[in-house]
Amino acid sequence: MSPPNIAKIAYQTLQQGKSLAGLAHKEASTKLMQILAPGASPNIEPIPTELLIELRRSISSLEKVDWQEAQHGLYPKRLLFEAPWIEWLAKYPLIWLDLPSTWERRRTKNIRDIPKKINVENYPPYYLQNFHHQTDGYLSDHSASLYDLQVEILFNGTADSMRRRVLAPLKRGLRRFRDRNQASLKILDVATGTGRTLKQIRSSLPEVELLGIDLSGAYLKQASKYLNNRSAELAQLIKGNAENLPFSNESMQAITCVFLLHELPGKARQNVIDECWRTLEPGGVFVLADSIQLSDSPKFCPLMENFHKVFHEPFYNDYIRDDIEKRLKSSGFKGIAAESHFMTRIWTANKPLK
Ligand SMILES: C[S@@+](CC[C@H](N)C(=O)[O-])C[C@H]1O[C@@H](n2cnc3c(N)ncnc32)[C@H](O)[C@@H]1O
Repeated sequence: MSPPNIAKIAYQTLQQGKSLAGLAHKEASTKLMQILAPGASPNIEPIPTELLIELRRSISSLEKVDWQEAQHGLYPKRLLFEAPWIEWLAKYPLIWLDLPSTWERRRTKNIRDIPKKINVENYPPYYLQNFHHQTDGYLSDHSASLYDLQVEILFNGTADSMRRRVLAPLKRGLRRFRDRNQASLKILDVATGTGRTLKQIRSSLPEVELLGIDLSGAYLKQASKYLNNRSAELAQLIKGNAENLPFSNESMQAITCVFLLHELPGKARQNVIDECWRTLEPGGVFVLADSIQLSDSPKFCPLMENFHKVFHEPFYNDYIRDDIEKRLKSSGFKGIAAESHFMTRIWTANKPLK
């Protein structure tokens, strides 16, 4: 009999702990909302037991892939255990303190409650709202400081495992450039937010040059704290609109984009994909990760329908019906492949050589 794999058991236990903590938080906060702010309760579809079982199965598959890919050396195992526990513990009370204003925005359908000092001309109109009903939208340090923990809770501790699913296709795609010096390769993470995808990429590809772009200066500040106080090479963080990337044609060998498209109107979605095409060098790879959709995961339809009722996600309903493959093809991408992992769909697309 082979000895128990302690690290694997520790990983599974950690994930189960995170999952239980996420569920307990959602249960407790929903109960409190029903008591203190009943008018904020959204009209959601009940989730049948079979679907909950299916969800559990889907999380287990995700964990299995995550473990196996670490085991095969795609990224270091330590990444599976990395989380700023002390910071999150300190921030957890702030999440509770923030809830009443979130409920109030939901109750009053106040979606334009963003900081007054923002120069609205610097942002596209679709961006100037409280995504998820969160305080200040994406436009303050307060919002940026709570975001990672909020996402961790939302996905029951699987957010980084889902983000890591971009690493295998990314590394496969970069094989085309294996004859080049790794340090000369550039990977851009579009809508990098607080930099969590960049962190996963940095651990997996320590030598490449990393760049991240986002519209939120506050989120980039958070990313800078998270990424750049380590011994690795600095990632360049740039404030800008993904619809109009400030990079020259064909300057990147790979581009990733995680959890952005569902927050954009259809036209902007296409603009972002077109910009990624323009910016990629021929032979480069584009790895896109976003919510699953109705066509690939019909069994999770009630969850997708509930998601945009509970959280303010103005473009989600349109996104889950959108044909992303068609959009990628219309930009010119070829060799498109897609796979789903729990709540995330990953598309890989290549820009062919000329
Ligand atoms: C749901 S968050 C995802 C962030 C990050 N990729 C992650 O995995 O956590 C969406 C991010 O997209 C950014 N964003 C939204 N519209 C954008 C645009 N047009 N250009 C650049 N960033 C944008 C927001 O500021 C936010 O950081």
